[in-house]
Amino acid sequence: MATEQRPFHLVVFGASGFTGQFVTEEVAREQIASEQSSRLPWAVAGRSKEKLQQVLEKAAQKLGRPSLSSEVGVIICDISNPASLDEMAKQAKLVLNCVGPYRFYGEPVVKACIENGTSCIDICGEPQVL
Ligand SMILES: NC(=O)c1ccc[n+]([C@@H]2O[C@H](COP(=O)([O-])OP(=O)(O)OC[C@H]3O[C@@H](n4cnc5c(N)ncnc54)[C@H](OP(=O)(O)O)[C@@H]3O)[C@@H](O)[C@H]2O)c1
Repeated sequence: MATEQRPFHLVVFGASGFTGQFVTEEVAREQIASEQSSRLPWAVAGRSKEKLQQVLEKAAQKLGRPSLSSEVGVIICDISNPASLDEMAKQAKLVLNCVGPYRFYGEPVVKACIENGTSCIDICGEPQVL
C-alpha cells in the first residue's frame, strides 16, 4: 500500500554491514546506469550516520561517482527504537533489510513495515527464521 508521497522508493537498512555494503553498491550501480528520468530516489539506513556516510563514500570511489553521497538519503534507525523503525518505514515504498541475525533483529522490522504499509524484503538464510 505504498503511496506516492513517500520520499524514497527503496531504503537499504543495515547498509553498513558486510552484506549491506554490497547491496548498497549494487543499488548505486543500477541507479547510475539508469537514464536520469528512470532513476528512483533511495536511501541508506542504520544506527551510525558516520558509518553510512563512509559506505556511500566508498561506493562513490569504487563507482567513480563523487556526487553519490549527495544523491542518496541517510536515515538513522535502530532496531531497539521502534519509533525510528516506524519513521524509516513511513519514508519508503520498500525496505531492503540487511540487518541480521534475523532471528534476533528481524521481527521488529517486519512489524514496522506491516503497520506502515511498506513492502519489505530481506536476505535471510537462517533456518530458525525461515
Ligand atoms: N542469504 C544469504 O546467503 C546470506 C548471506 C550473508 C548474510 N546473510 C544474512 O544477512 C545478515 C547480515 O549479515 P552480515 O554479514 O552483513 O552482518 P554484519 O556485517 O554483522 O552487519 C549487520 C548489520 O546490522 C546492523 N545492526 C546491528 N544491530 C543493529 C541495530 N540494533 N539497529 C540497527 N542496525 C543494526 C549493523 O549496523 P552497525 O554497522 O551499526 O553495527 C550492520 O549494518 C546475516 O545475519 C544473515 O542472516 C544472508
